[in-house]
Amino acid sequence: MPDDVVDDAERRWSYVVAAVVLFVFAAIILAGLHWAAQVPSNVEPIDASRLHLSGEFTEDNLGTEMQADGSAIVRVLAQQYSFVPGCIVVPSKTRVVFRATSPDVVHGFLVAGTNVNTMVVPGFVAQVGTRFDRPGEHVMPCHEYCSVGHEGMWARVQVVDREEFARSYGGQRRVSCVRK
Ligand code: CUA
Repeated sequence: MPDDVVDDAERRWSYVVAAVVLFVFAAIILAGLHWAAQVPSNVEPIDASRLHLSGEFTEDNLGTEMQADGSAIVRVLAQQYSFVPGCIVVPSKTRVVFRATSPDVVHGFLVAGTNVNTMVVPGFVAQVGTRFDRPGEHVMPCHEYCSVGHEGMWARVQVVDREEFARSYGGQRRVSCVRK
């Protein structure tokens, strides 16, 4: 083959390669700007120093609250070194939204065997929605190292049949399975 044909082919390929490299760079830069400009999940600030005084995460407001639409909201405090309530009870076959926050340091929030897995960062409310199809029990360990008591920081989630839940806990304002 004559040299100039080879040179032309090489040049065309170098343009193609340059275009691919530029495209990839552009994609990286655009994606970086996009995700830097908006937060990856809900960011809901809350004053971590006043959780116990007023608002959503006071002690008597923690636990499971059934909503008018039949779903459940579970409010949880993650603190060194426990979850409050330490035993969470929810109905099966129901939309469940966990809302958690921390008064001290970063904790982890994980319900084993489900999609619920998030960090609990002081100053913010972490929110995760899920649904339990079957009754049963799930462990809920803290999975962010939060100092010396970290290993002992865990709770349980009891999933109770929907009808049984209504019979056992119906009419109560906030529900948990912590023994009093
Ligand atoms: Cu809380 Cu580790």
